[in-house]
Amino acid sequence: MIIAVDGPAASGKGTIAKALARHYGLPHLDTGLLYRAVALTVRRLDLDPAREADAVAACDFDDALLADPALRSDEIGQLASIVSAHPLVRAALLQRQKRFARQDGGAVLDGRDIGSVIAPDADAKLFVKATPQIRAQRRHKELQAHGSPVSFDKVLADIRARDARDSGRSTAPLVMAPDAALLDTSFLSIEASVQKAVALVDARR
Ligand code: C5P
Repeated sequence: MIIAVDGPAASGKGTIAKALARHYGLPHLDTGLLYRAVALTVRRLDLDPAREADAVAACDFDDALLADPALRSDEIGQLASIVSAHPLVRAALLQRQKRFARQDGGAVLDGRDIGSVIAPDADAKLFVKATPQIRAQRRHKELQAHGSPVSFDKVLADIRARDARDSGRSTAPLVMAPDAALLDTSFLSIEASVQKAVALVDARR
C-alpha cells in the first residue's frame, strides 16, 4: 500500500504521515528533508541559487546529512523552497523518491508533489491543510519552545512566502491531486487529525 500525504508547511502532514506509517507498519520518507539537504549543501558551499543554478542542481549530499538538526531551521526551509523550484533539482531527487514509494510492501511519503508526481498511482492520497494563521501559530509556538525570539508576524510572513513559492512554481507545484481526500487540521488536535487520517485511508484502500 502506498500512502501519499501532501500539504503546505506546518499543516501537520509530517506528523500525520509518521503516525500513518506506524499505524500500518510501513516505512516513511519525509521528502522535504531531501530538498532541505540540498539547501544546506548550497548554504555550506556558499552557492547563489539565482546565479549558479546548474551547480545547485548538481549538488550531491551524503545520506548522513539527512539526520543533521541544521536541516530543521526555518531559514533552511525557505532556502529549500527556493532550490526546489529548480526543475533540475527536482529531477535529481525524483528516482530516489519513486524507488522508495515502489518498495515491496508499500510506503508512506509526505511532501508537496507525492500524489501528483512521485506516486500518482498511490492507494490513498491525503491533502492536509490548515489556515496560514493557525500554521503560523503552531510554528511560532515551536520556535518559542526552542528559545527563538522570532515574532509571530515574521513567522506568518515566511509561511505565506513559502506557500506562494511552492504553489506558484511551474514544475511540480503544491496542488491537491484530484483523487486526494482533504483533511483540514485547523481545528483538530494531533490525535483527532491522525484518527481522521486513518479513517480516510481505510475508506480508500
Ligand atoms: O516539508 P518541508 O517544509 O520540510 O519542505 C521544505 C521545502 O521543500 C518546501 O517548502 C518545498 O519547497 C520543498 N519540497 C518540495 N517537494 C516536496 C517536499 C518539499 O518542493 N515533495
